[in-house]
Amino acid sequence: MNIVKKISVFGSLFALGLFAMVTPEAKTAFYFEDAKEVNAAISKLVGKNPDAKDIAELAKKYSLDDLMHVFKLRTKGGLGVGETAGAITPDGIEAKLTGLLKKEPDKADLAKNGKAYATIGEVSLILAELSEAHTPKDKKGDKDPKKWKEFVEKMRKGSKDLVAASNKSDGKGVKSAAKILNDSCVECHGIFR
Ligand code: HEC
Repeated sequence: MNIVKKISVFGSLFALGLFAMVTPEAKTAFYFEDAKEVNAAISKLVGKNPDAKDIAELAKKYSLDDLMHVFKLRTKGGLGVGETAGAITPDGIEAKLTGLLKKEPDKADLAKNGKAYATIGEVSLILAELSEAHTPKDKKGDKDPKKWKEFVEKMRKGSKDLVAASNKSDGKGVKSAAKILNDSCVECHGIFR
């Protein structure tokens, strides 16, 4: 290797090292603080019938993007699935939903993780109410507030079905509720995101 090459290899490695050391860490630390706050606020409401005042307050304080971050992997600042980090994989609501709609959970899975699946429904129900509070005011092209409300209603239904099926250890019901819920995400994002 000639000296020019050596220098440029060293230079790239050095730059990569700097990038790895400075950029993602600085970003992550900042991001996690925000996400933690949102996660804590939403966790407080889980399992209760969402109170209109709490919902209005949260919706005012945070953007929909910040709120929807709860659906991400726990390692990316989302709420995760279940109480113990990494015990259920994938450990993120959005990713777990796509798993559940593809494969019906069996009895053993439901006995162990049913409570965590019900919580996915409860969190999504809160997010449906928060989405309702963030309904766009005006129609802009395809972005019709009427459509938004339809997707919110579907999200509510999927969420409630998921809670009920998980609590009954009904694998088939969990699978079909996960499909309805996930459809609401995908359909709304398709138009509004
Ligand atoms: C009624 C419409 C609607 C529904 C239903 C909906 N979303 Fe969203 N979602 C949005 C919009 C709009 C954004 C982008 C907001 C922005 O950029 O300001 C978004 C953003 C997100 C983000 C990005 C958050 C971030 O921090 O980057 C995730 C993740 C997400 N949604 C997941 C979901 C999941 C999972 C569901 C279903 C369980 C869902 N969404 C249902 C409208 C919706």
